Amino acid sequence: MIVGGLLTVAPVFGPLGKTLHYLDDFIAERPQPMLSKAISECLSRHPAVAYLFLVRPLTQRKLPPEFRNGLKQQQNKKENTMNQNTMNEVKDKVAIVTGAASGIGRATVDLLHARGAMVVAEDINPAVVEVFKDNKRIVPFVGDVATESAAQKVVALALERFGKLDILVNNAATIVYKRVVEMTLEEWDRILAVNLTGVFLHSREAVRAMIPKKSGAIVNIGSYACFFGFPAIAAYCASKGGLSQLTRVLAVENIQHGIRVNAVGAGDVVTNLLNHFMPDGREFLAQHGKNAPIGRAAQPEEIAEVVAFLASERASFLVGSVVMADGGYSVQVGPTVT
Ligand SMILES: NC(=O)c1ccc[n+]([C@@H]2O[C@H](COP(=O)([O-])OP(=O)(O)OC[C@H]3O[C@@H](n4cnc5c(N)ncnc54)[C@H](O)[C@@H]3O)[C@@H](O)[C@H]2O)c1
Repeated sequence: MIVGGLLTVAPVFGPLGKTLHYLDDFIAERPQPMLSKAISECLSRHPAVAYLFLVRPLTQRKLPPEFRNGLKQQQNKKENTMNQNTMNEVKDKVAIVTGAASGIGRATVDLLHARGAMVVAEDINPAVVEVFKDNKRIVPFVGDVATESAAQKVVALALERFGKLDILVNNAATIVYKRVVEMTLEEWDRILAVNLTGVFLHSREAVRAMIPKKSGAIVNIGSYACFFGFPAIAAYCASKGGLSQLTRVLAVENIQHGIRVNAVGAGDVVTNLLNHFMPDGREFLAQHGKNAPIGRAAQPEEIAEVVAFLASERASFLVGSVVMADGGYSVQVGPTVT
């Protein structure tokens, strides 16, 4: 209402109307790549007017039709190129994804498969067999990532079934919710064994298979807990902190062999991760996600997109990065206040 009213009276005010037209000309005269620069220039000179300009429908502007058509064509071209690139980015690559029966792991298997990869899907939960049955390009494997034998067997399986290994996604993890004062050694050891030793074992076996062919990508699933401490999840935080350091060392050791190692620092994602110690872990994660500047938790597919990117050649210059995909959680201090 207010904006509409302002727009109606805008032409009445000479300088205001004049500036709107100035903005139209300013933008119409400039080639598309300069558009955002032009707008920000105008915004800094005439904030109120520029705002009115931006909220006016496109049809009300003086933009010539060629400009609008050109803009559309350019957008379509960009979308098509992106689709072709992304749809084929892991075509015929062979991947192992751990923790594949649920959440981020499952979404990652689905996405890599959809983009042309062959996948060995590992999980301690035998349900993984049912989840990925009847698909010739996805082979389920039941194993505990914390064991040396599972790491060796899963890599051997990838080589036997698909002839090579290009991608390893170290995703499996578990969590215990207890303060240090109450935690048993057994609980501590188990979290570290799954979340950190499992990454070491699988990465070691994977690089042994990747080094001879001088290429590969490893993506480790980290968390904002790679960098921050939260009460009652000490072992989990320690394991994720360790994972980020292991990522860096693996990266600098193996880039000489054409193997890139990176991690994703996930924020809250609506999955079953907490379900074994709270009645509705998914709801907890959904609510906790609201503390991030983005105001919500992620869906597993949003993290899978980052994994696919890091696993692909599009990320050719990323070595040892922990790419934060956390809705901005880690760039603020304290909860978001709006
Ligand atoms: N959900 C979140 O909010 C969140 C946030 C940050 C990071 N992460 C990370 O994302 C990754 C995936 O977790 P998720 O949220 O999808 O949880 P999830 O519980 O839905 O999936 C984890 C999977 O790992 C499997 N797994 C557990 N222990 C295993 C073992 N020893 N061997 C093999 N498989 C095992 C589980 O059976 C399960 O299928 C984890 O590394 C987790 O730390 C999750």
